[in-house]
Amino acid sequence: MFIRVLFIFMNFNLQKLVRENIKRLSPYSSARKEFAGKAEIFLDANENSFGSPLAAGYSRYPDPLQLEIKEKIAELEKVKTSEIFIGNGSDEAIDLLFRIFCEPDLDEAIICPPTYGMYKVSADINAVKTKEVFLTADFQLDVQGIRKEFNKWTKLLFVCSPNNPTGNLMRREEIIKIAKSVHGIVVVDEAYIHFSGEDSMIDEIKNLPNLVVLQTFSKAWGLAGLRVGLAFANEEIIALFNKVKPPYNVSQIAQEAILEAFNNREEVEKTITEIISEREKLIKNLQEFSFVKKIYPTDANFVLAKTTDAEKIYKFLLNEKIVVRNRSNVELCENCLRITVGTPEENASLMESLKKL
Ligand SMILES: Cc1ncc(COP(=O)(O)O)c(C=O)c1O
Repeated sequence: MFIRVLFIFMNFNLQKLVRENIKRLSPYSSARKEFAGKAEIFLDANENSFGSPLAAGYSRYPDPLQLEIKEKIAELEKVKTSEIFIGNGSDEAIDLLFRIFCEPDLDEAIICPPTYGMYKVSADINAVKTKEVFLTADFQLDVQGIRKEFNKWTKLLFVCSPNNPTGNLMRREEIIKIAKSVHGIVVVDEAYIHFSGEDSMIDEIKNLPNLVVLQTFSKAWGLAGLRVGLAFANEEIIALFNKVKPPYNVSQIAQEAILEAFNNREEVEKTITEIISEREKLIKNLQEFSFVKKIYPTDANFVLAKTTDAEKIYKFLLNEKIVVRNRSNVELCENCLRITVGTPEENASLMESLKKL
């Protein structure tokens, strides 16, 4: 077995995974990419030199490679700026992975339901077949099942950790074991990692040439409206992201706000601690209700609750002007509600409403 694993790993060849048209692609060269230096008069990008009467400061195209932000992230995560891709949400990174690696109507991706829905939607948009290897009863990876499904057309495996909608972390050693034994790209989506208390897998990108780690500013950083997500991988993979991405995929306003957020990192850390503490309270309180059969262990900023009748509770809460997510139609999540941890006031209102049920 060890020999087989070693053999496959040593045979990992990125160029064999990349679509031929992407290898051949001459990427668009934007004005700001061609000239990123200092000058007094910029007449190279067909911007409006008079500016806007509506908002000052946005008449110029933003940095296409978001270098200032990457420098901050590189320092924080101890990686090189060339090992970071910044996208219009991590949803953009997910879509680009299909566009870089998967030949439509030929290649395949493996997903592990119940999991984040965009992996399959992105695959469908890109005409890529998805194979489903369901999580085990305790919502962990079916390592053998995943390995068995890999064939020469399998380019991507999506692992969500902590997983949405179940909330739990996947076992790190198992992800590493899989990554070492398959020829495809292993994508670990860590959108919720900062609520878990566990280390990110970013530091594994130097050991695993086929690992891509996704993170986002939408959750722990509290900036979902800005649409800024991240991918970490070796330089070769990140260069492919940059080759394929739209030229100015992260707006000026988003870039400025993210830089500002780095000046307030202590606040971000404080909010994470508060959310974790509210999550524990929420779990305890929810367990008091007879219609809550089980709260699944969670490492994220939400809980998954198995109930006696999810549809009824969902509708009742809607009537109370509280929206949770009904995940009943998701396999292995029958009668489950996914509830995001709110502020102390919001969680108290939720409890008050549930008491009326
Ligand atoms: C697991 C997971 N990945 C990615 C995303 C999307 O993140 P972004 O806002 O960066 O596109 C979500 C959003 O809910 C998510 O749950």
